[in-house]
Amino acid sequence: MEMLYAQCGNSGLFLPRISLGLWHNFGGNADFPEAEKILRAAFDCGITHFDLANNYGPPPGSAEENFGKTLRGALAGHRDEIVVSTKAGHRMWNGPYGDGCSRKSIIASCDQSLRRTGLDYFDIFYAHRFDGVTPVEETMSALSDLVRAGKALYVGISKFPPEAAERACAVLRGNGTPCLVFQDRYSLFERSPEARKLALARENGAGFIAFSPLAQGLLTEKYLRGIPAESRAASPDGFLKREQVTDEKVAAARKLSAVARERGQTLAQTAIAWLLCNPHVTSVLIGARTMRQLEENLGALENFSFAPEELAAIEAAL
Ligand SMILES: NC(=O)c1ccc[n+]([C@@H]2O[C@H](COP(=O)([O-])OP(=O)(O)OC[C@H]3O[C@@H](n4cnc5c(N)ncnc54)[C@H](OP(=O)(O)O)[C@@H]3O)[C@@H](O)[C@H]2O)c1
Repeated sequence: MEMLYAQCGNSGLFLPRISLGLWHNFGGNADFPEAEKILRAAFDCGITHFDLANNYGPPPGSAEENFGKTLRGALAGHRDEIVVSTKAGHRMWNGPYGDGCSRKSIIASCDQSLRRTGLDYFDIFYAHRFDGVTPVEETMSALSDLVRAGKALYVGISKFPPEAAERACAVLRGNGTPCLVFQDRYSLFERSPEARKLALARENGAGFIAFSPLAQGLLTEKYLRGIPAESRAASPDGFLKREQVTDEKVAAARKLSAVARERGQTLAQTAIAWLLCNPHVTSVLIGARTMRQLEENLGALENFSFAPEELAAIEAAL
C-alpha cells in the first residue's frame, strides 16, 4: 500500500498519515538490530516522521541515542527525507530543572537531545505537557527561541488543556513561530479530544497528531484471551499496567473485533482507520514492537472509509 501525506495545519510541512513513535521498543532495553530493522522498514514504507522525547527509553535518553545511531546507520544519508520530533517537559534529570516546562528546562533539554541524537536541529520540538506552574508565555517563548537559534524548525504542544493550548497558540503566533501541531491521546477508547481540542487545533491553524491509537495494545486482539507474556501489560518496563486490562475494555475490544472482521480488517487496522478517516487528524502516531505489527498497522491505509452502519456498530460496541 502507498503512504499518504497530509498538510500539517496551515504550514507547508506534510506528514505521513501514519507516523512511528519510539516511546517503547526502541530504548536501551530493546534488541537494537531488530529496532533498527523496524525503523528502516517503516521509512521504506513511506513513514517519514519519527517521534521521540528526551525521556524515552528505558533508560531515559536511550531512544534518542539509538535513533541517532540509526540515522548514522540504516538511515544514513536520508536526514532531509525525515522529520524528527522530540519533546521536553516530563522528569528527565535530577533536581528542580530536570522536570517541567521552565525556560531553563526546555533549553537545556533541547541541547541534551541534540547531543544524544547527534543532530544539528530537530524538525519539531514540543512542550511535552502543561506543567501547571510555568506561565505559558515563558514556555512558548523558550520554544520560539529554539526556532530562532536554529535548533528547531517548528514547535508543537502536547497534552495541553484547552485553555492553555489556546493561550500557547496566541503567544507562539505573536512570536512569529506559529504552533505547528497538537499531539494528544486519541483513540476509540479515548475520545476526550472531540470535546474541544480537535476544533481548537484547526481554529489555530495547527495540525493534530493522535498518539496511542491502539490504547497501547488494548485495541488489538492480543488481550482477548488473557495477558500474553510478550505484551506491554506483562512487561516490567511497560507503561500499560495489568490492572488497565479491565474486563470492560476486553469486552469492548471483543465487540469491536467483530466489527473489524466484517470489514475484512483486524481490530488494530480498524482502530487506526477510524482515526485516519477523521479530517481533523493529520497523522496517527503508532508504536510497533515487531515487523509484523508494523506491517499489519500500515494495512489500515488500504481501507479507511466507513459506512454509517459500521460507525454505528462501533459506537454500539463502545
Ligand atoms: N505526547 C505524549 O505524551 C505521548 C504519550 C504516549 C505516546 N506518545 C507517542 O505515541 C507513540 C505511540 O504510542 P503507543 O506506543 O502507546 O501506541 P499504540 O500504537 O497505541 O501502542 C503500541 C503497542 O501496541 C502493541 N501493538 C501495536 N501494533 C499491534 C498489532 N498490530 N497487534 C497487536 N499489538 C500491537 C505493541 O505492544 P506489545 O508490546 O504489547 O506488543 C505496541 O508497542 C509513542 O511511541 C510516542 O511517540 C506520546
